[in-house]
Amino acid sequence: MASSGHKNVNAKLVLLGDVGAGKSSLVLRFVKGQFVEFQESTIGAAFFSQTVAVNDATVKFEIWDTAGQERYHSLAPMYYRGAAAAIIVYDITNQASFDRAKKWVHELQAQGNPNMVMALTGNKVDLLEARKVAAEEAQTYAQENGLFFMETSAKDATNVNDLFYEIAKKLPHLQPASNPSGMVLVDRTSGSAAAGASCCS
Ligand code: GTP
Ligand code: MG
Repeated sequence: MASSGHKNVNAKLVLLGDVGAGKSSLVLRFVKGQFVEFQESTIGAAFFSQTVAVNDATVKFEIWDTAGQERYHSLAPMYYRGAAAAIIVYDITNQASFDRAKKWVHELQAQGNPNMVMALTGNKVDLLEARKVAAEEAQTYAQENGLFFMETSAKDATNVNDLFYEIAKKLPHLQPASNPSGMVLVDRTSGSAAAGASCCS
């Protein structure tokens, strides 16, 4: 395959959201194609990477799966700072998790990278009969706040690959004639390593 014009980019991506919303489960589904019924609550944060092919580019996502527990809140800026993309996850069966997601959106709007691609994700859509958050409500909120919206199920895999693929397509470095600043989104051929540079103390 001819490689001229092919771009390799690394994109730092962070997942934020309430305890139990399914952040780790979405990452596990995307990275390993697996789901576990009793996923352990994340401590601090966990790092993963996975690659997505988009048109003439290969995007390597460097994924920080953060912990939803409130006592880890103060660590969050370490993970969203410089991120090219954020997935804010809530559980469609849990109204409080949607309220929490809105708080994350506010925090990112105030403190995050202004060029960040933000995706609002209503997870556990396999539990339709227990739905508490209407898709229309979340969609409207997302539109008003310039977010990309999708409902997913880490359990049955609905929309999980699509979510990451859509984010990859929206990355500014893959848009024609763009030059965002302050992002950890680098050409791998230049040898810059963004992942793993900072971690927990
Ligand atoms: P913290 O790490 O504590 O912040 O939670 P988290 O957001 O990483 O949630 P986690 O992935 O640990 O999922 C919490 C629970 O929800 C686990 O028991 C999962 O099995 C379950 N779960 C996650 N995603 C889904 C889903 O799409 N459908 C269903 N039915 N259950 C899910
Ligand atoms: Mg987790």
